Amino acid sequence: MIQRSQLDLRKFVVPEFICGHGALQLAGRYARNFGMKQVLLVTDPGVRAAGWAGAVGESLVEAGVSFTVFDSISVNPRSRQVMAGMETYLAEECNGIVAVGGGSPMDCAKGIGIASSNMRDIRTFEGVDRVPVPAPPLICIPTTAGSSADVSQFAIITDEERKRKIGIVSKAVVPDISLLDPEPLTTMSRDLTVDSGIDTLSHAVETYVSNASSPMTDVHALEAIRLITSTLPAVLEEPDNLNLRFSTLLASLHAGLAFSNASVGAAHAMAHSLGGAYDLVHGRCNALLLEHVMAANYEAEPERYNRIGAIIGRGGATPAEKVAAFRRALGVTETLAAVGVREDAIPALAEAAYNDPCMVTNPRNFTCEDIERIYMYAF
Ligand SMILES: [Fe+2]
Repeated sequence: MIQRSQLDLRKFVVPEFICGHGALQLAGRYARNFGMKQVLLVTDPGVRAAGWAGAVGESLVEAGVSFTVFDSISVNPRSRQVMAGMETYLAEECNGIVAVGGGSPMDCAKGIGIASSNMRDIRTFEGVDRVPVPAPPLICIPTTAGSSADVSQFAIITDEERKRKIGIVSKAVVPDISLLDPEPLTTMSRDLTVDSGIDTLSHAVETYVSNASSPMTDVHALEAIRLITSTLPAVLEEPDNLNLRFSTLLASLHAGLAFSNASVGAAHAMAHSLGGAYDLVHGRCNALLLEHVMAANYEAEPERYNRIGAIIGRGGATPAEKVAAFRRALGVTETLAAVGVREDAIPALAEAAYNDPCMVTNPRNFTCEDIERIYMYAF
């Protein structure tokens, strides 16, 4: 275990953001302020069908900004989709990007930005600080409360040839502004609300025990845990309640400010490996792994985990048991086997997780065998 001190040098990067009801309608004004004349509006078919891409498009038109929609994006966005977006960006002579959607469109938009400005394949940026030329201006409007891609220094793209996710960590992928409006969250399905909410919880828990945490990230991580565990069950009862939806959005924002600056840990490393190999939803992967990683990590940071347990409050004797009870109460009861994972795939999954950049900040150094064991607990 690496000893931490509050005197350790730490930086804290925060983009501009505006939160509140109606923030979405500011898209056009900010696009114009950034000098955008031709925007690539990056979204996905579901968000488009729900009307949110159209609402952002109207705001752009009102501000006199032209746009082209790019929505050929799946969950776990692929490197080929990023490169197709780059082709459209260049062909339409765009000079800015507006992303509206969850983590997939936002990460894809980040990828399109850096691929276009550097004229390089997106897979060449894997790792930390490997983007030489800054991206064009990017405005993000999240329609889920979980990924925090709208404030983070991370973009996760799936390399479909190698069936694995690559992590791009750079200040170059921090959006120029995030417009946080609770209204788009009201069209999320119950499953998406749960999965993105547990992603928020995973970000906050993993950041709080990260060996790169700081007094600044601690404040945001703890507030995120408090907000998401106290409001997620209620929002499932009242999905149209804007105040509750806004609380989950704030939780995601706090968690994003924390993890963008102190990174996450083994649950995310293992979730990336799992999501890349099986094309599973990211938040659900975290939901199936988090408690097992917490139990395996506990001895490295008992005081920090106990603080997390005290905030969650009920459901079990240990912090890991409380998280398990929380996800069960939200209806997440399956195992890795139930979602189609094969036991003989675990060594390869563990090896990919071992090499994921998120593993670097986990409070315990795991071997591949340790990671295999944790996957087995979730089986
Ligand atoms: Fe995540």
